[in-house]
Amino acid sequence: MFKIAVLASGSGSNLQAIIDHLHGLVAGIQVAVVVSDVPGALALERAERADIPTAVYPLEAYVDRETRDQAMADAVEASGAELVVLAGYMRLVTPGFLERFPHQVINLHPALLPSFPGEHGIEDALEYGAKVTGVTVHFVDPGVDSGPVIRQETVSVHDDDTPASLGTRIHALEHRVLPRVIELFARGRITAPEQGSRRVRVDDDETSEIIW
Ligand code: GRF
Repeated sequence: MFKIAVLASGSGSNLQAIIDHLHGLVAGIQVAVVVSDVPGALALERAERADIPTAVYPLEAYVDRETRDQAMADAVEASGAELVVLAGYMRLVTPGFLERFPHQVINLHPALLPSFPGEHGIEDALEYGAKVTGVTVHFVDPGVDSGPVIRQETVSVHDDDTPASLGTRIHALEHRVLPRVIELFARGRITAPEQGSRRVRVDDDETSEIIW
């Protein structure tokens, strides 16, 4: 069994891809808990529909972010998760949270980092006039979308793209890339960078149990 925790603030379409293509299906992967900072987030409903335990940690209920994140870390730890996946979790996690899960927290970003970090990666790439953008999965460090890159895949930008049309293609790619990276983690094929390096080793033998 390879247990993961998913943190999500919003619609949870990436969580749904994980549920549909990995959870209980591939490489012993189980989503052990879904955690959100937003009460009523659609991601929580998706988890409940799949009988996955949920937990909500709104900032207003705690004295500060660090205290909230420690409570969240307690829930993740209690679930037995070996990997924490930020899938549309729209807050920075605190250094105290990351210290509890060294090299075990990954994030999904809808652009090719280090270009277009932050909350508007799709719109920013379009406004800049980039001809190619894409999807990045990276280890999380205390900065904004600044941790070591694990995998990137590209999407061409069309002349007539709008944020919605480009977003549709980026999200479709995200729904394939994130489950694939989690599968590679579960199979022990991803090695975190050594001290002083940012280079992540991904031993992808191109075989996958995922059925799309
Ligand atoms: C994705 O585009 C992800 O890259 C970004 O937030 C979005 C989450 O979408 N970090 P969803 O909640 O999984 O539908």
